Amino acid sequence: MPERLQDRVAVITGGGSGIGLATARRFAAEGARVVIADLDAETGERAAEEVGGMFVHTDVTDATAVERLYATAEAEHGAVDIAFNNAGISPPDDDSILDTGIEAWQKVQEVNLTSVYLCCKHVLPHMRRRGKGSIINTASFVAVMGAATSQISYTASKGGVLALSRELGVQFAREGIRVNALCPGPVNTPLLQELFAKDPERAQRRLVHVPMGRFAEATEIAAAVAFLASDDASFITASQFLVDGGISGAYVTPL
Ligand SMILES: NC(=O)c1ccc[n+]([C@@H]2O[C@H](COP(=O)([O-])OP(=O)(O)OC[C@H]3O[C@@H](n4cnc5c(N)ncnc54)[C@H](O)[C@@H]3O)[C@@H](O)[C@H]2O)c1
Repeated sequence: MPERLQDRVAVITGGGSGIGLATARRFAAEGARVVIADLDAETGERAAEEVGGMFVHTDVTDATAVERLYATAEAEHGAVDIAFNNAGISPPDDDSILDTGIEAWQKVQEVNLTSVYLCCKHVLPHMRRRGKGSIINTASFVAVMGAATSQISYTASKGGVLALSRELGVQFAREGIRVNALCPGPVNTPLLQELFAKDPERAQRRLVHVPMGRFAEATEIAAAVAFLASDDASFITASQFLVDGGISGAYVTPL
């Protein structure tokens, strides 16, 4: 493994599980010093221990906690080079607009979008002081295409993450700070496996749209994050970085 991230300090929100955890492993394998932030102290602690990193218990919707997260990372390691703003939720009460109440709407906006605003707002001063940094915000393929199986607040939140990332990428481009939105396709997580094992028709309805005919593995998403975090992506900013198995490019998929 080339050590592209040797001694870079990387803060990962939602690093205790799924894509965040896979990325923590990948960052550590490439030489980074990893700081895990998560609401779940148990999985967060475990992930930090596994990758030889540090855990900071953080609710990403809490401005004070987010500010403290980056201050702690800098106090411990002297810098914040990489911010992977990845924590997010997809709760079942966020559904069709016809059935989704204002509370369910607001909760998802807070965790998925306001959190990214807070993370960017509070990490940027650290990066600006040193004139370098890479921010990767997790959006989704649903930020660029519509689904009849709606999760209306989730989709709107990810559209917001995409637009926010683009704007920051442009604003800070001449300060050595890159900001990209990562747009993963559906990922093969335990939750997804369980859902689709119970309901194969539901799985098929989605899989038919994936040219590759399968969902992503979290390690494949992590590989893209490591690339965006590294100097190999030195000319990539303000992008919508799709890692979706071709979904967003497809009209008719192979049989
Ligand atoms: N899994 C997919 O198919 C998929 C596809 C596209 C985008 N995404 C996005 O990728 C990101 C990660 O998804 P995942 O599938 O790895 O999810 P996951 O549920 O496995 O992990 C999310 C992590 O975020 C943490 N978290 C939730 N609320 C938090 C809060 N308020 N403060 C701090 N931490 C909090 C959770 O504790 C958990 O550890 C999310 O933003 C999600 O929307 C996922």
